[in-house]
Amino acid sequence: MKVLVTGGAGFIGSNFIYHMLGNHPEDQIVCVDCLTYAGNLSTLADALKRPNFKFYKTNICDRAAIYDIFNAERPDVVVNFAAESHVDRSIEDPEIFLRTNVLGTQVMMDACRKYGIARYHQVSTDEVYGDLPLDRPDLFFTEETPIHTSSPYSASKASADLLVQAYHRTYGLPVTISRCSNNYGPYHFPEKLIPLMIINALHDQPLPVYGNGQNVRDWLYVEDHCKAIDLIIRKGKVGEVYNIGGHNEMKNIDIVKLICRHLRKPESLISYVADRKGHDMRYAIDPSKIHRELGWLPETKFADGIKKTIDWYLANEAWWSTIVSGEYKDYYEKMYRNR
Ligand code: NAD
Ligand code: DAU
Repeated sequence: MKVLVTGGAGFIGSNFIYHMLGNHPEDQIVCVDCLTYAGNLSTLADALKRPNFKFYKTNICDRAAIYDIFNAERPDVVVNFAAESHVDRSIEDPEIFLRTNVLGTQVMMDACRKYGIARYHQVSTDEVYGDLPLDRPDLFFTEETPIHTSSPYSASKASADLLVQAYHRTYGLPVTISRCSNNYGPYHFPEKLIPLMIINALHDQPLPVYGNGQNVRDWLYVEDHCKAIDLIIRKGKVGEVYNIGGHNEMKNIDIVKLICRHLRKPESLISYVADRKGHDMRYAIDPSKIHRELGWLPETKFADGIKKTIDWYLANEAWWSTIVSGEYKDYYEKMYRNR
């Protein structure tokens, strides 16, 4: 099987590529990524040594270039990870989110229609469901929960999902969609909560917690997400949406304190800062459909996953120090100074 993976130089896409190369050596993997600030070719250094891996530096919005790649490669399956993924950046400037996340998805699906495909898989997010109240721990997002978005990022992802479903219904494109909760693990870009806190703590820098830190996210180790997508593209039912999550709800403040404890840093580094606009309170996925229909269950417990993740950042300073010393510095200044 030939699998075309977009966004494979980013966090989850790269983990997915290594999962596929490790578990399906008979498959061929083609990665398409335009290497935005969030994409890093050094992440794929080991993959690039494999004969069954190929990389194209291409923007998914570039229709002619994408058609050329499809013409040359004729993939069987497309997994679309490519996206602008950071909520805070979408609040500052939504436009690129609409271009990549919506129009880029359209280009990818048009290419699938033109050249023929066995499966188009859209990597979506639990953020399309909006948020849940803190005082109703009995409520979870199911695949039937109405779309109800908060940020330009989540609105762009929801728009893409609707377009994917429209391409299935109108043109019969064989699609699946997965909506996963917050991932954590190796190669997570330092702008996101967990790597940001690890790296700041290592530098004895303030740990900026938005609002009162009571917001809840449902954390899943990235390898478990990759396994779920692998199952969906092989055994998932065309036209279906699958929620992915591990029933692992944590308050932001508890995560930050846990990171302090692991790194033996004082909690006095914690600094409460202005809240994110439109900040979602709680995400919580009901993953019973993917468990019932495909037998998927998360394998990594949070206590083990967070330890592995912290150890990975300790052992891979070369990977993140290049990032945090580059344009990320300007981003950090703009987002956090005087916040
Ligand atoms: P990321 O920001 O780490 O990586 C995105 C990758 O896409 C980068 O390599 C970037 O260069 C590439 N890219 C961006 N725009 C592109 C374009 N126009 N053309 C080609 N490549 C482009 O993101 P991530 O956290 O790995 O998320 C991957 C996908 O998973 C996204 O679709 C996101 O919405 C979804 N998702 C993420 C999470 C999470 O917790 N991170 C959870 C659920 C779903
Ligand atoms: O739920 C899935 C989503 O998870 C994905 O679709 C997104 O692509 C991904 O970025 C992530 O979105 P979040 O907004 O939940 O992740 P983030 O790491 O940005 O923030 C997690 C929580 O931590 C959120 O409540 C905001 C808070 N936060 C974040 C940062 C960066 C802070 O308190 N301080 C910070 O500095």
